[in-house]
Amino acid sequence: MGGCKTDVFKKTAPVGVVDSGVGGLTVARHLQRMLPGEDIVYLGDGANCPYGNRTREELETLHRKTFGFLLRQGVKAIVVACNTVSSLLDRRAADYGVPVFTIIAPAAQAVARSGAQRVGLIATAFTVHSGCYERRIHALCPQIEVVSKDSPSLAALVDGGASDEHAIDAEITAQVGDILRRAPVTHLILGCTHYPIVAANFHRCFPQLALIDPAEEEAAALVRALRENDGINPAAAGRFSIYTTGDPSVYAPIAARLGLTPPSLVEQVRV
Ligand code: DGL
Repeated sequence: MGGCKTDVFKKTAPVGVVDSGVGGLTVARHLQRMLPGEDIVYLGDGANCPYGNRTREELETLHRKTFGFLLRQGVKAIVVACNTVSSLLDRRAADYGVPVFTIIAPAAQAVARSGAQRVGLIATAFTVHSGCYERRIHALCPQIEVVSKDSPSLAALVDGGASDEHAIDAEITAQVGDILRRAPVTHLILGCTHYPIVAANFHRCFPQLALIDPAEEEAAALVRALRENDGINPAAAGRFSIYTTGDPSVYAPIAARLGLTPPSLVEQVRV
């Protein structure tokens, strides 16, 4: 958690969740399950997806715009459900006015807990080249070998609705195959929030690998912070609103595929 100005969350304010597209729904599903009373305001920056092939400067601009949108919705916390932006913000102590939760440190916890000694990482180019996964994992467990490979196209294939199974399997086979040619990893970190949406494709292509999805760990970090600060919304059922700068039609089907409760609103916005 970074940028915490006050230790008190406004209980009834919504939780903001942000990603470049549909990937953050893989974090939102854990939030809904763990915190059923919270209103969730989700923003997918589909017009600018994929983030993973962008420069640091572009990501700086995009994340400020998306954070600005969520702050205007009055959120009590921002959950960065995006490894790429989390890599950008890793180790940064900026003050955004509300606490910000990122995914790399929770992911390292999930890896440590898995017991893996040799782990593969598939993520976007920005995330892989930032080196922050290795840094965070080695800070906890210096002996773990991390073998990384970026995918230039998997996030975009998933963000388009995850319908081209052939192209998705081919991309997974190429990139994870590259990891396995370099080291016999036993576990694979899905280091982009879009990837758990196609977990079944990973299982089909590489059934021997145990998949690590850091989303649950990130959601748990928010739950802990809300609990410790008496910030949990006591409502019986929260409202789930989805905003996107891109094509709104992909969100409800992916949300349903992930078992989320149906959104009460899916709306295209400019940020
Ligand atoms: N879902 C995001 C991530 O976790 C971004 C994918 C992308 O837009 O390239 O990295």
